[in-house]
Amino acid sequence: MADVKLAPSILTADFSDLGRVFRMFENHPSVGYIHFDVMDGDFVPNISFGAPVVRSLAGKTRLPFDVHLMVSEPGRYVADYVTDNTEYIVVHAEADKHLDRTLRKIKSLEVKCGVALNPATLPEKLEYVFDLVDQVLVMSVNPGFGGQSFISASLEKIRWLAALRKARGLGFKIAVDGGINRTNISDVLDAGAEIIISGSAILNAADPEAELKAYDELLGRMNS
Ligand code: DX5
Ligand code: ZN
Repeated sequence: MADVKLAPSILTADFSDLGRVFRMFENHPSVGYIHFDVMDGDFVPNISFGAPVVRSLAGKTRLPFDVHLMVSEPGRYVADYVTDNTEYIVVHAEADKHLDRTLRKIKSLEVKCGVALNPATLPEKLEYVFDLVDQVLVMSVNPGFGGQSFISASLEKIRWLAALRKARGLGFKIAVDGGINRTNISDVLDAGAEIIISGSAILNAADPEAELKAYDELLGRMNS
């Protein structure tokens, strides 16, 4: 039985009303995590928010946090994102000179670790940490902004990771992030993704509740 979960990104949310957004997420069984896009204006050409915001929101929801660090030298900052809600801390393979060390540091903080791959980055880059990671995040857009279009080459990368995981009996989760909506979510699910990040297609929709309800039905069928 599959265990596919939605992780809505709050990047395009109304930050003055996050409590209401969290309540909405909690009412939908497809939502398994809240996705936090931390951007430093260096690794990506945009600045979003940092640890003070993530820490201030801990304890304000029962949902676990999936923290996506789009920052340079993430090893210096991972400890700042450990909260009672933090389940995953995900760093970019392209941003870290000492990826193995950073992943071990996250695990030593008793949080699951993940590695994100930009669209142009080969998954083989993770050869020596596949047995260490709890999540591999396939970026299906170039990171830095919400509302971009899905890069279809990501499907082949998801299939490649799913085949490798099966062949080696590994346990990492496959996540996908960027440009996911109701029309392409079935493609990423068929390819093998289990954590589905979606932002603007939900929060910028005319009726976010209706979008989430549709994901409940789709993922409910997948997981049954
Ligand atoms: C982009 C972020 C994504 C983004 C997703 O760099 O990592 O999580 O917020 O938003 P949509 O679903 O609108 O592409
Ligand atoms: Zn993200």
